[in-house]
Amino acid sequence: MEEKEKKLKQPLRRVVSNNIFILRQVWRLMPSYLILTVCEGIMWGLINSAEAVVFYTIFNALDTGEPFARMAYLIGMISLFYLISGILDRLYWVVINPEIKQTLHYRMHRELFVRAQSLDLACYDDPKFYNDFVFAMDEADSRAIKVVDEVGKLINRLVASGTLFTLLFTIDTLVAVLIFACSLITTVIWLIGNKIGFRQQEEGKPLWRKSNYINRTFHLADYAKELRTSRASELLMEEYTENCGRLIAMQKRYGKKYFLLYGLCDSPISIGLQLTTLLVMFFKLIAGQVQLGGFAAAVNTIWRVRWFFFDICQRIARFPEHALYIEKYRNFLSTEPTIRSGKTPIPEPFAALELRHVSFAYPAGEDGEAKETLHDINLTLHAGEKIALVGYNGAGKTTLIKLIMRLYDPTEGQILWGGVDIREFDLEEYRQKIGTVFQDFKLFAASIAENVLCTDCAEDREEDVRRALDAADFTDKLESLEDGIHTHLTREFRKDGTNLSGGESQKIAIARVFARPYELIIMDEPSAALDPLAEYALNHNILKQCADSTVIFISHRLSTTRMAQTIYMLADGRIAESGSHEELMAQNGKYAEMFNTQAKHYISEVLPA
Ligand SMILES: Nc1ncnc2c1ncn2[C@@H]1O[C@H](COP(=O)(O)OP(=O)(O)OP(=O)(O)O)[C@@H](O)[C@H]1O
Ligand SMILES: [Mg+2]
Repeated sequence: MEEKEKKLKQPLRRVVSNNIFILRQVWRLMPSYLILTVCEGIMWGLINSAEAVVFYTIFNALDTGEPFARMAYLIGMISLFYLISGILDRLYWVVINPEIKQTLHYRMHRELFVRAQSLDLACYDDPKFYNDFVFAMDEADSRAIKVVDEVGKLINRLVASGTLFTLLFTIDTLVAVLIFACSLITTVIWLIGNKIGFRQQEEGKPLWRKSNYINRTFHLADYAKELRTSRASELLMEEYTENCGRLIAMQKRYGKKYFLLYGLCDSPISIGLQLTTLLVMFFKLIAGQVQLGGFAAAVNTIWRVRWFFFDICQRIARFPEHALYIEKYRNFLSTEPTIRSGKTPIPEPFAALELRHVSFAYPAGEDGEAKETLHDINLTLHAGEKIALVGYNGAGKTTLIKLIMRLYDPTEGQILWGGVDIREFDLEEYRQKIGTVFQDFKLFAASIAENVLCTDCAEDREEDVRRALDAADFTDKLESLEDGIHTHLTREFRKDGTNLSGGESQKIAIARVFARPYELIIMDEPSAALDPLAEYALNHNILKQCADSTVIFISHRLSTTRMAQTIYMLADGRIAESGSHEELMAQNGKYAEMFNTQAKHYISEVLPA
């Protein structure tokens, strides 16, 4: 709790700097928004000042008996002013402002996407970072808009209150001082309220995140089957009920705090001030210090000033709250990836990949313990060689692939590409050299061709796409699709989209590595969803397509991995055995045991002859 309090206390310098930071972001991304907001603020400030002076003059004229024509002229002028500014204001708020906000949203989010993509995969394993990330995604543009709007309104109020306060001092100094003092108290109350609001947001964010997750499971097609055919929905529903119960309890708890603050502190001050000022002016009226017109003019001005002043204070009080949110956005933007790019050119052509004494531990969890997943791995893969990684679930096969792809860096040891540590290469350039089929591959709601190329499909690439799909044994299916490689995948956004089966989807993912030449091809369980015939065809094609390529192949089906020149058997994060299939069988160790167990269940081999 103390830790939380400390986090909420921010020096004034930080409040100012965070708010200026977001204004500078807006200025960089959408300068017209700031310019128009300032102009709008000044325009309304002047109109409000003129309006106050005109009303003051009109009411006072009741006592002095000014000619009607002059009053009518004043009323006419202010009405015309109102009409013109009203039309301009609507034009701004209905047409220009929404477009500006949408563009700002787009530009800010584009930057956030780019940054999110540049961050380490490890960030996603850290719930604290994830919360900040969600905060940044949810709040960045809406906070920027709130700060800009706040600044616009403040300009408006400050311009107007200059005139109003001058008028007020001519009416009654005591009332002016009273309004000023009460406004300060209100500011403090709102500062406290806004801090409580932020704390509530922080407390609620993980709960809202969980609710969103459960929402997602009910509306995403990915979960629809499990929900209908298992009791998972009951489990989720229970969690949802518990989560919502905690949210409701939280709302109640905070509701009481808000009532104490606003209901029992803020409202009495506000109403008390209203009554006091009314009484002061009423006594002045009875004492004959003002007449009826003067009384009305004074009350009108006082209430206006009070409203403007309270509004200014409430808005100022919101800046520390904005600053707390902006801080998270800034934290997110300033998070630097630890997986950095180097500048050394990548040696051409590819000669060998060597893992030298590589150990790795995923970042520590909540318990603070980082357990080593890979220990002292040594292996060398020469150009054109095909190796297989095999082992039981959780042995560390996929982790090893992630290290080679530089999604994580080893905690100890080195990975060398052509004798150079891969940390020295430009990250993007290095990753482009490797074609990967991930175990948990994802297809996107885009055309088949775009899914294969992972980018737009120019006309001159269409043949590459067809060839790659053919190599992945997808041709039969492709011929049945009216739009061929331009068929849209998933029906999420298009009614004419196609939903593929698990194996068909996997074939698209496999086609990615055949769509263009790669120095190294990695396939992590590429045949998991394939039927035996498709697996046979895939193996055959891998041998054909990748005859000269360097391949790392992971599969639980040892009949498939037999084709590798060297097989590495991983157990508990170590290389337990290595050698050709025949050598490993002759060793009669873990590999032979695994192979024989599987062979018992296979009636026939699915290997190419
Ligand atoms: N992001 C992560 N954070 C922490 N631990 C992880 C993470 N990803 C995997 N692990 C752990 O690392 C170990 C190795 O996982 P890995 O995915 O490399 O296994 P695998 O050999 O590919 O298994 P499978 O055959 O099931 O695909 C597992 O015990 C797993 O719990
Ligand atoms: Mg795996």
